[in-house]
Amino acid sequence: MNCHLFLLSFIYIFTGTNAASVHYPVIFIPGDGGSQIWARLNRTLPPPHFFCARHSDWFELWLDLRLIIPEVIDCFVDNMRLTYNETTKKTSNLEGVEIQVPGFGETSTIEYFDASGFSYSSYFAPIVRSLVTLGYTRGVNLRGAPYDFRRGIDEQEEFFVNFTKLVQDTYELNNQTKIVLVTHSMGGPFALYWLHRQTEEFKTKYIRSMVNIAAPWGGAIKALRLMISGDNIDVYVVSPFRVRPYQRSAPSTAFVMPSVNFWNKDEVVVVTPQRNYTVNDYEALFNDIQFPTGYAYWLNNKDLVQEQDPPKIESHQIYGSQMPTPGVLLYDNRTFPDLPPVVLPDNGDGTVNIRSLLGFKHWESKQNEDIHSLEIPGVEHLAILKHPTTINYVTQVVTGQFDKN
Ligand SMILES: *[C@@H]1O[C@H](CO)[C@@H](O)[C@H](O)[C@H]1NC(C)=O
Ligand SMILES: *[C@@H]1O[C@H](CO)[C@@H](O)[C@H](O)[C@H]1NC(C)=O
Ligand SMILES: *[C@@H]1O[C@H](CO)[C@@H](O)[C@H](O)[C@H]1NC(C)=O
Ligand SMILES: *[C@@H]1O[C@H](CO)[C@@H](O)[C@H](O)[C@H]1NC(C)=O
Ligand SMILES: *[C@@H]1O[C@H](CO)[C@@H](O)[C@H](O)[C@H]1NC(C)=O
Ligand SMILES: *[C@@H]1O[C@H](CO)[C@@H](O)[C@H](O)[C@H]1NC(C)=O
Repeated sequence: MNCHLFLLSFIYIFTGTNAASVHYPVIFIPGDGGSQIWARLNRTLPPPHFFCARHSDWFELWLDLRLIIPEVIDCFVDNMRLTYNETTKKTSNLEGVEIQVPGFGETSTIEYFDASGFSYSSYFAPIVRSLVTLGYTRGVNLRGAPYDFRRGIDEQEEFFVNFTKLVQDTYELNNQTKIVLVTHSMGGPFALYWLHRQTEEFKTKYIRSMVNIAAPWGGAIKALRLMISGDNIDVYVVSPFRVRPYQRSAPSTAFVMPSVNFWNKDEVVVVTPQRNYTVNDYEALFNDIQFPTGYAYWLNNKDLVQEQDPPKIESHQIYGSQMPTPGVLLYDNRTFPDLPPVVLPDNGDGTVNIRSLLGFKHWESKQNEDIHSLEIPGVEHLAILKHPTTINYVTQVVTGQFDKN
């Protein structure tokens, strides 16, 4: 009996002390679509419909669900769309469309897609809320790094400069405590890219570990579908063809196309009656869909992240599986390239193919720091962010409990 009491009070003190002593600051890096985008219009080009606004004050463009309804969506797509300059290899907004990504360093714009904060548009909100109940404070040890997710990694120079500063500021703001990076989806490769550019001294000083949730290390077939025939925006039912002009215009879509390091050179990923395409046939594919700019986007981005090179920090991988995920896209003469294909399913999280989610395995023999992973079968790419197992895992890592187990 005494012995039990002793043990109980020991456990109490032990966990109590830890909870109080470690609160690694967290910086969230969202994925494609996971930052809010605001716009201000003073358009000279005629908009697609007479009722589309030409002039406006700042308003929430991504994501205000009211802008995604039929007809109005054309106005939305036209304001989101980027144009490409082949000489400079840079994209720009349409003339008269000003864009800003608000909330850098805060969490407000990465907690929900939609500023109205409806629960169906929740993004990092469940994780943030759960950490707040443990004593974390938004803007102090919970910080967000939103960015213009339309752009590929080739056009994020300024974001990464700001990100480095955010890491340093957050470290100082929290009594020189090392930081845990928590990423979702495309945020994972973004973090890896940035880590590859930091010195060992910098990483040792500032970074405790990284938690990557649903990271597409080797891209995803779904991005090809976006480029060819468009795709629903996951959060709402829209016509793929109508959003395609935006999706095609975003270099980030090309950035997450299937990597030649993850798909075999003779593996057919797109089937049409005229020809089959592998990941080595992107040039022909983009010519055949009459969108050669997509190929330029891919060339600009394909070698920037060495996804097989380790981050050289402790890392944790959380990913879903056993969900039907686009594997091979089958088009016929009628559907290619403007209508949705028949999709042969692959294993994955519904968006990212399993081989890509497992890309971190390439790091295993190449770094001394621990690599932990957790597969959650039956959990989808976005839903994984509110799954209790994910929330619990992230909590354990950022409060140092993971190290004790
Ligand atoms: C809108 O653009 C026009 C030129 O296209 C310019 O003359 C005008 O000052 C602009 N308005 C605002 C509010 O910036
Ligand atoms: C592309 O950029 C170059 C160099 O800045 C410029 O001269 C050219 O006019 C631009 N092209 C278009 C179509 O805007
Ligand atoms: C980077 O930070 C500067 C200064 O705060 C800000 O003006 C700029 O918009 C930021 N850029 C990006 C891409 O986050
Ligand atoms: C910062 O760390 C010092 C030394 O470890 C400690 O005395 C102080 O209370 C800490 N301050 C905060 C705000 O945590
Ligand atoms: C494309 O691939 C399918 C199955 O892999 C095959 O049956 C078909 O003959 C191929 N088509 C062409 C045009 O090569
Ligand atoms: C598709 O179109 C091509 C040329 O337009 C034709 O040769 C081919 O027979 C068609 N295939 C089908 C399945 O209709």
